[in-house]
Amino acid sequence: MTRILMVCLGNICRSPLAEGILKSKVDSSFIFVDSAGTGNYHIGGLPDKRSINVAKKYAIDITDQRCRQFSVQDFDNFDVIYVMDNSNRRDVLALARNQQDKDKVKMILNELFPDENVDVPDPYTGGLHGFEQVFEMLNKACTIITQNMTQ
Ligand code: 4NP
Repeated sequence: MTRILMVCLGNICRSPLAEGILKSKVDSSFIFVDSAGTGNYHIGGLPDKRSINVAKKYAIDITDQRCRQFSVQDFDNFDVIYVMDNSNRRDVLALARNQQDKDKVKMILNELFPDENVDVPDPYTGGLHGFEQVFEMLNKACTIITQNMTQ
């Protein structure tokens, strides 16, 4: 079983979409996918309505997800930790206990643009269009993730 964690700040906009998209592309018998936020603002809450609606448009249901905060145990529980932006990366790396923990942390858009450390923009304060763009980027990145798994 490969275990993949998607991480953003609030765990209500970007990482729930990343979790839902990747889950829609993989066999859950072999790949476990979850998401978490570095912040604690929305613990226990549903994903943002705009993320729910954009996912729904592509036939992905993310309403079973509940927000949780990233914790140091996640380094033990996951094989790969995909962060959405450079700020998430700093926050997650600050909790790493050793090099093995650090090596698990990857920028998700580096799957599309290797070594460029491009951020998935935070759509929280913007309009619906931002959520559409985020969906598109994450969909491309998750397609590459699944392609690399089967090689
Ligand atoms: P996310 O977006 O990190 O993609 O879930 C955000 C959601 C909420 C907040 C910030 C970012 N917030 O400050 O409440």
